[in-house]
Amino acid sequence: MSRTTNLLLTLITISIFPFVTNGAVQPQHHQHAHGGGGGCIPAERAALLSFKEGITSNNTDLLASWQGQDCCRWRGVSCSNRTGHVIKLHLRNPNVTLNAYGYYDACAGASALFGKISPSLLSLKHLEHLDLSMNCLLGTNSQIPHLVGSMANLRYLNLSGIPFNGRVPSQLGNLSKLQYLDLGQPDYCYGTMYSTDINWLAKLPFLQFLSMSGVNLSGIADWPHTLNMIPPLRVIELSSCSLDSANQSLPHLTLTKLEKLDLSGNYFEHSLGSGWFWKATSLKYLELGGNKLFGHFPDTLGNMTYLQVLGISSNEITDRMMKGNHLKNLCSLEIIDLAYNKITGDIEVLMESLPQCTRTKLQKLDLSGNNFTGTLPNIISDFSKLSILSLSNNNLVGPIPPQLGNLTCLTSLELYSNHLNGSIPPELGALTSLTSLDIRRNDLTGSIPAELGNLRLGPTGIKADRLGQILSVNTKGQQLIYHGTLAYFVSIDLSCNSLTGEIPTDITSLAALMNLNLSSNQLSGQIPNMIGAMQSLVSLDLSQNKLSGEIPSSLSNLTSLSYMDLSYNSLSGRIPSGPQLDILNLDNQSLIYIGNSGLCGPPVHKNCSGNDPFIHGDLRCSNEEFDPLTFYFGLVLGFVVGLWMVFCALLFKKTWRIAYFRLFDKVYDQVYVFVAVKWASFAE
Ligand SMILES: *[C@@H]1O[C@H](CO)[C@@H](O)[C@H](O)[C@H]1NC(C)=O
Ligand SMILES: *[C@@H]1O[C@H](CO)[C@@H](O)[C@H](O)[C@H]1NC(C)=O
Ligand SMILES: *[C@@H]1O[C@H](CO)[C@@H](O)[C@H](O)[C@H]1NC(C)=O
Ligand SMILES: *[C@@H]1O[C@H](CO)[C@@H](O)[C@H](O)[C@H]1NC(C)=O
Ligand SMILES: *[C@@H]1O[C@H](CO)[C@@H](O)[C@H](O)[C@H]1NC(C)=O
Ligand SMILES: *[C@@H]1O[C@H](CO)[C@@H](O)[C@H](O)[C@H]1NC(C)=O
Ligand SMILES: *[C@@H]1O[C@H](CO)[C@@H](O)[C@H](O)[C@H]1NC(C)=O
Ligand SMILES: *[C@@H]1O[C@H](CO)[C@@H](O)[C@H](O)[C@H]1NC(C)=O
Ligand SMILES: *[C@@H]1O[C@H](CO)[C@@H](O)[C@H](O)[C@H]1NC(C)=O
Ligand SMILES: *[C@@H]1O[C@H](CO)[C@@H](O)[C@H](O)[C@H]1NC(C)=O
Ligand SMILES: *[C@@H]1O[C@H](CO)[C@@H](O)[C@H](O)[C@H]1NC(C)=O
Ligand SMILES: *[C@@H]1O[C@H](CO)[C@@H](O)[C@H](O)[C@H]1NC(C)=O
Repeated sequence: MSRTTNLLLTLITISIFPFVTNGAVQPQHHQHAHGGGGGCIPAERAALLSFKEGITSNNTDLLASWQGQDCCRWRGVSCSNRTGHVIKLHLRNPNVTLNAYGYYDACAGASALFGKISPSLLSLKHLEHLDLSMNCLLGTNSQIPHLVGSMANLRYLNLSGIPFNGRVPSQLGNLSKLQYLDLGQPDYCYGTMYSTDINWLAKLPFLQFLSMSGVNLSGIADWPHTLNMIPPLRVIELSSCSLDSANQSLPHLTLTKLEKLDLSGNYFEHSLGSGWFWKATSLKYLELGGNKLFGHFPDTLGNMTYLQVLGISSNEITDRMMKGNHLKNLCSLEIIDLAYNKITGDIEVLMESLPQCTRTKLQKLDLSGNNFTGTLPNIISDFSKLSILSLSNNNLVGPIPPQLGNLTCLTSLELYSNHLNGSIPPELGALTSLTSLDIRRNDLTGSIPAELGNLRLGPTGIKADRLGQILSVNTKGQQLIYHGTLAYFVSIDLSCNSLTGEIPTDITSLAALMNLNLSSNQLSGQIPNMIGAMQSLVSLDLSQNKLSGEIPSSLSNLTSLSYMDLSYNSLSGRIPSGPQLDILNLDNQSLIYIGNSGLCGPPVHKNCSGNDPFIHGDLRCSNEEFDPLTFYFGLVLGFVVGLWMVFCALLFKKTWRIAYFRLFDKVYDQVYVFVAVKWASFAE
C-alpha cells in the first residue's frame, strides 16, 4: 500500500484492505480536550518556536497558527490532558506534489515544510508521536538527525517521504518504546539512504509497523533473523531495498501477528518456494512483485488462509497453474496479481480451481503476460465483484463471452494481445462502471456494437482538476508512458482487429471518453458527424481503416484533443480547421491525413478546387444534429472524468508499480498518454 495515498484512501468508499482500518496499522490517537486550564508548558512552547525557526519556508499555513500562549492549540500539536505536556506533533504534509515524472516528491511541492529538524525538539521530553512525513526537512547534510534517537518516549515516528541520504542512524535503536517506524520512501523519489546493519531494530521490542522501503539494505544477509526477533510486527514494508535473498531458513517463526509483508522490487533470484515468508500463515497481504523469483508455487501457499492480496507479478514463475489446487482454502482472496510470469495452463481450468468462496470476493485478477491458453469460460460471470480483469498478452482463443456483461463492477477489462475471435458482444455495453476497455490486437470480427455507446465510463461527481494534477506532470510534447495508473484513463482501444461496418453513431455519446483507438481494422462508412460531442477526447486514432466521405468539421469542437490520426483511409474533401486542430501533431501535420488521396487543403499540399460547399453544408448538417440536451450531458460528464478511478488505481497499483517499473523494458504493449500534453499546455 502506498504511504502517500492514505488521505485519498479515506475518500474512497471501498476498502480493499479492511485490516488497515481495524487498528492493525493505525497509529494511536491521543485525543485531548483543550478547554480546562489551557496554556502549555513554557519550555515546550519555546522548544516549538525554536523548531519553527528551523523552518525556512512559509508557503503553507501549517505553522500559521503557531502563535499565542497556548501551544496546545497550535495546529498539529497535542498535549496530554493529564500532564499538559506536548505528546504529539503531527506535521505531515497533507498535500504531496507529483514531480515531473509523476512520482511523489516532498521537495517539489509548495505545501511542504522546508528547512531542518531542530534539536530543540529534544526539549519535548514527553513526545510520543512525531510525524514530519512528506516534508523537505533535509537540514544541511540531508541525513536523518541522530538526535531523533534520543527522543526516548516516541511510540510513533514517521519520517517517510523525506528524501534523506546517508546512513540510517543506529541510534534509532534507542527508541525502545517505538511501535511505528516509517522511514519508507515513496516510489522512485527516494534519496539514497542505506544501512549495512539493522541489528538495532531488534532493540525495539514493541515495534508493530516497520517501513524502510527504498532504503538500500544491500548486503544485509540476516535481515529475516533480525525481524524474527520482533514478535509484535504486523506490517513489514521493505520494498526496493536491494535485498539479496529471502530464502534464509528460520526454524522457528515468531512473527505470528504478521499481516502485511511487502518485499517487492528486491533481487531475490531464488525459487519462490524457498522464501521464509511461507511460514507466516497469518499474512493477509503478500507482495513479492519484481524479484526474479522462479519455480513453482509451494504447497504451503494452501495454508495461507487469511490471504487477501497475493501479488507475485513480474517474476519468473513457471508453474502450471493450480496443479496442486493451491488456492482451495484461500477464501479471503480479493486480489490476485500474477502478471508477467511464465505461468502456463488452461484459463478455464484455472477459473474453475478458484474456490467457490472467492467468487463473491475477488476484485482483481491480473494474469496478463503469461502463457495461459484456452477459451474464457462462462463462469467468469460468477466473480461478481471483479473490478479489474486483465488477461492480456496470453494465448487465449475463442470468443469474448457475453457473460462478461454481467460483471457490472468491472472498471478495467484488458484482453489485448490474445487470439480472441468472433464479434464484440453487445452485452459489454452493460458494464456501466468501465473506464478502460482494451481488446486490441485480437482476431475480432463483425461490427462495433452500438451498445458500447451505453457505457457510462466512470462514475460521476468527480473533480476533474485532481485528475488534471496527475496528468499535468508531463513535459510538453512528450508522450508519457504510464504503468498501472493509466489503466484507469478513460479509454476504448479496439485497434488491430478485423472489425467491419460503420463506426456506430451511438459511440459519440461517450462524452467522458478520453482515448478512442479504432486503428487498423476494416471499418467503412463515414466518421460520425456527431464526433464533436465527445468533449473529453484527447486522443483519436482512426487510421488504417476504409473510412470514406468528408471529415466532419465538428472535430474542431474537440477542445481537448491533442492527438489525432486519420491516415490511410479513403477520406475526401476539405480538411477542416480550427484552433485545436491546427496545433495537433505540429511536427508534421500532414501525417495525420496521409494516405487519403481525396483530401485537400492545408496541411496537405493539394488545393481544393473552386467553390467550397463543404463548410456550409457541414455547418448546416451539424446544426441539425446538434442536440442541446446531449451536449449539456456531455459537457457535465466530460468534466467529470474518473478521479475516483485514478485514485482507485493508485490504491491498487502503487505497490505494483515497482514491479511494473522493472518490467518496463519487457512490456511491448505500452500505453501512451497524450493527455499529458494537453494538460501541460493548459497549465501554462
Ligand atoms: C506515514 O505518513 C504517510 C503520509 O505522510 C502515511 O501514508 C503513512 O501511512 C504513515 N505511516 C504510518 C505508520 O502511519
Ligand atoms: C483526555 O480527555 C479525553 C476527552 O475528555 C478523554 O477521553 C481521555 O481519556 C483523556 N485522556 C487522559 C489521558 O486523561
Ligand atoms: C511566516 O509567516 C509569518 C506570518 O504569516 C511571518 O511573520 C514570518 O516572517 C514568515 N516566516 C518566513 C520564514 O517567511
Ligand atoms: C492542496 O493544494 C491545493 C493547490 O495547491 C490547494 O488548493 C488545497 O487547498 C491544498 N489542500 C490542503 C489540504 O492543503
Ligand atoms: C543510543 O545508541 C547508541 C548506539 O546505537 C549508543 O552508543 C548510545 O549510548 C545510545 N544513547 C542512549 C541515550 O541510550
Ligand atoms: C545499494 O548499495 C549497494 C552497495 O553499496 C550498491 O552496489 C547498489 O547499487 C545500491 N543499490 C541501489 C539501488 O542504489
Ligand atoms: C538462497 O538464494 C541464493 C540466490 O539468491 C543462493 O545463492 C543461495 O544458495 C540460497 N540459499 C539457500 C539457503 O537456499
Ligand atoms: C498446513 O498446515 C497444517 C496444519 O497446520 C500442517 O499440518 C501442514 O503440514 C501444513 N502444510 C504445509 C504444506 O505446510
Ligand atoms: C505457451 O504454451 C504452449 C503450449 O502450452 C507452447 O507451445 C508455447 O511455446 C508457449 N509459449 C511461450 C511463449 O512460452
Ligand atoms: C447474465 O446476463 C444474462 C444476460 O446477458 C442474464 O440472462 C443472466 O441471467 C445473467 N446471469 C447472472 C448470473 O446474473
Ligand atoms: C475462432 O477460432 C477457432 C479456432 O481457434 C475456430 O474453431 C472458430 O471457428 C473461430 N470462430 C470464429 C467465429 O471465427
Ligand atoms: C492505436 O493503436 C495502434 C495499434 O495498436 C497503435 O499503433 C497506435 O499507437 C494507437 N494510437 C494511439 C493514439 O494510441
